[in-house]
Amino acid sequence: MRGCRDILGSSLQKRYAMISRFGEICSTYIYHPIETPILEHAEVFARNLGTNSDILSSEMYHIAETNPLLVLRPEGTAGVARALSKSRQLSMRSHGARVWYTGQMFRRERPQAGRYRQFTQLGVECISDESVTSDAEVIEIASTFLTENEVQTKLRINTLGSQDERKRFDKVLRDYLKPRYSGLSNISRIRFDKGSCMRILDSKLSEDEDALRGAPRLSEFVGEKERRRFEELKRLLEESGIEFYVDETLVRGLEYYTSTAFEFDGKLGKAVCAGGRYEDVEGICGVGFALGVERLELEMGIEADEFLTVFEKELEGGIVVIGLCDSNEESKNKIGKSVREMVRELRRKGYAVATRLNQGKLGKIIGKVVKSGVKVVIVIGEEDLNEDRAMVKIISDKGMTSVPESVNLKSVTEFVSKTMNVKHQAKEGERVYL
Ligand code: HAM
Repeated sequence: MRGCRDILGSSLQKRYAMISRFGEICSTYIYHPIETPILEHAEVFARNLGTNSDILSSEMYHIAETNPLLVLRPEGTAGVARALSKSRQLSMRSHGARVWYTGQMFRRERPQAGRYRQFTQLGVECISDESVTSDAEVIEIASTFLTENEVQTKLRINTLGSQDERKRFDKVLRDYLKPRYSGLSNISRIRFDKGSCMRILDSKLSEDEDALRGAPRLSEFVGEKERRRFEELKRLLEESGIEFYVDETLVRGLEYYTSTAFEFDGKLGKAVCAGGRYEDVEGICGVGFALGVERLELEMGIEADEFLTVFEKELEGGIVVIGLCDSNEESKNKIGKSVREMVRELRRKGYAVATRLNQGKLGKIIGKVVKSGVKVVIVIGEEDLNEDRAMVKIISDKGMTSVPESVNLKSVTEFVSKTMNVKHQAKEGERVYL
């Protein structure tokens, strides 16, 4: 579908593995998983993202008929803060609460590569911890994960000062840009009109760069306390061996940010991870980030698998049990039952198994399943059933079928495991790879 990314097969498995690894990294920092609803009250975002942010002004999907109004969540921070702010325990914890999450987010965007209407985020929030070490900690988590996945990024950091300092700067910048309004790009004029002047600093358009030449700088408005905090953050990042550069034009699109802001930019020119500190989201402070999973996949060259490629090799490393029956119902039922029994037993032992109940030519069916990457073919026909046996063929890596062996029905699983030299006994629910 336009605006979203379909994903299947091995690419989807890589995504699941990526999410699982992210959780493992987070748990070494003692971050706990959290899941919040995809549908949230519109109010949760209206209260926290800033009325002038692009998300609030034009990017949220509303569910029309609900009262109070529900929306598809555009990001994770506000929902997580809403969930945790209700916890009485939070106010009693001196070290705050640390959580990580993954899930689908929705924004009304003009779709393009790396920008979708439905996308997946991996994120962390370190709530109610005001220390600068927690800012460095979340950046370190993101950096560790990106480095492990060999995603090359550039980390930009900035300080936005306190909420008051940010507001004062925004006003002075507005006064500066007012007489230069006609020279601004269309998008920057919209941002000016909406009251989010600071976002104009982010623009890379030449007309905006011209208008901004000589403009007041955010750093001039950042007070001593925030400045010292920022110096400490830089020191901590250096200590962790994390490369970064300070970018005074980095302001972030969501208005809840104060103090630390950061972005990891990928080779394809978009931020793969972004975050920062907030003073008041649902009444609580914190620091966190979100990684765009689809953007990561693009950076890593993981393509959404082609439907055909996935299904060409759909039986890779698995077993097929073929029931060869006559055309009458009795034969179908009898053979079908014993095929299903065998399949159940094999699956319980962790083997990946497909079935084919067939009246056609055996050679043709075997040809097809061998092409699909199957490793073992088990055939049960009328005669076999009468003699309590099945025919088992092993397929070599080159797709050659062995001479069929006649195996007692009850010993098929054992035979497969011995012949395929399966050393590992699967625990319940675990898969055995042949
Ligand atoms: P954000 O910058 O809006 O921040 O989004 C974070 C990341 O989500 C982006 O860097 C990008 O990788 C991905 N992303 C955003 N929009 C799209 C889209 N339309 N299509 C594909 N990927 C997208 C937040 O969402 C904050 N909640 C992050 C945060 C957590 N700050 C503090 N805690």
